Amino acid sequence: MKNFEYYNPTKIIFGKDTIKKINKLIPQDKRVLITYGAGSIKRNGVYDQVIDALGNREVFEFGSIEPNPHFETCMECVKFIKENNIDFILAVGGGSVIDATKFIAAAFFHENDAWEIINSNIKIEKALPFGSVLTLPATGSEMNSGAVITRKETKDKRSFHSELCFPQFSILDPLVTISLSEKQVSNGIADTFVHVMEQYLTFPVNNQISDRFSESILLTLIEEAPKVFANPNDYDVRANLMWAATLGLNGLIACGSPQDWATHMIGHELTAFFGLDHGVTLSIVLPGVMKVMRDEKSEKILQYGERVFGIKDGQREDRITKAIEMTEEFFNSINIPTRLSQVNLNEKDIDTIVQRMIERKWSLGENGTINPEKVRLILTDRL
Ligand code: NZQ
Ligand code: ZN
Repeated sequence: MKNFEYYNPTKIIFGKDTIKKINKLIPQDKRVLITYGAGSIKRNGVYDQVIDALGNREVFEFGSIEPNPHFETCMECVKFIKENNIDFILAVGGGSVIDATKFIAAAFFHENDAWEIINSNIKIEKALPFGSVLTLPATGSEMNSGAVITRKETKDKRSFHSELCFPQFSILDPLVTISLSEKQVSNGIADTFVHVMEQYLTFPVNNQISDRFSESILLTLIEEAPKVFANPNDYDVRANLMWAATLGLNGLIACGSPQDWATHMIGHELTAFFGLDHGVTLSIVLPGVMKVMRDEKSEKILQYGERVFGIKDGQREDRITKAIEMTEEFFNSINIPTRLSQVNLNEKDIDTIVQRMIERKWSLGENGTINPEKVRLILTDRL
């Protein structure tokens, strides 16, 4: 097992009808800004619950945060915060709203061009305090310190991390996820699945506990996924999926293990250039990464195949092939694309992504061996 440090200060309030607890979590004298997206929270009753819980506090709103949140929108929000002397932000939404809020909280105190926070990865010295009400289980943003921001004009989709960007608290009420479309449920399941794979499917370091945690999350997703589509109102299924998503990327399963993240890095470029949903980029790219990197990842693919899909018999190479096939079949079973052709992308579009990798001089993966030519092989496999 590798050495590690683990820090996670986010308080989680999980369960039915817990939004009202906001009242005890934010001091009475705060001027609170609610950040949100295109309005789902106004249609499903979450907004009303939040307003009720905030009681007599001074409350402001900043909506219209788009999926894959834009730097430009975040900077408008920073201006709004300065004009209104806001001193606490409450993000109400999915990963995009929470990520945008993290960036806004940090950009508020940043004196130079705030894009530096992302581009130069400079250390953030201060951030506004914020909490979240999560409405879409997927990203783990509700309990981690990372955020992904898009700069429209340059088609950049990039991440940053800071220990000052953990939410102070996150409210996870599974009931609020019942209004999600099937497409967003699938995106969230795929995102969680791939978060786990990025931290698990590397090479063995004898990290029994993280491996078993990871496998338990994958098995939970595989078992709960058909149930959520068959019985969308089942509270326990929603609760299991929500907690799985948070545990998938709150740092816990990463402790002591190597990490990959190539699927995400390639996926972010697919979103930046072609606007694909985050979850869709991952279900398309992951099987390709597994195929092209099957030798480097062979031991963990065999373990995954056996413990997650019960693949015990047959030749080693056949078992590896089967585990990769079953991964793609799982994504197909939740009705999320696994091929570039399903989202109308072709070889020319692969050139665009490979060119970006060349410009960035990126070598991805747990061993830094996924060079631009491997990225081409991965994406060509996904046509
Ligand atoms: O904007 P509204 O109207 O709220 O609608 C949203 C949006 O259209 C809708 N939605 C959310 N909750 C709902 C709902 N609709 C009905 N009922 C509800 N309860 O869902 C749509 C997608 O929302 P979004 O927040 O964009 O989705 P997600 O949570 O998947 O977040 C994706 C973003 O997070 C980043 C992604 O790159 C992407 O930008 N990620 C952040 C990570 C992190 N911070 O650690 C890690 C991830 O790997 C990921 O990169
Ligand atoms: Zn993700």
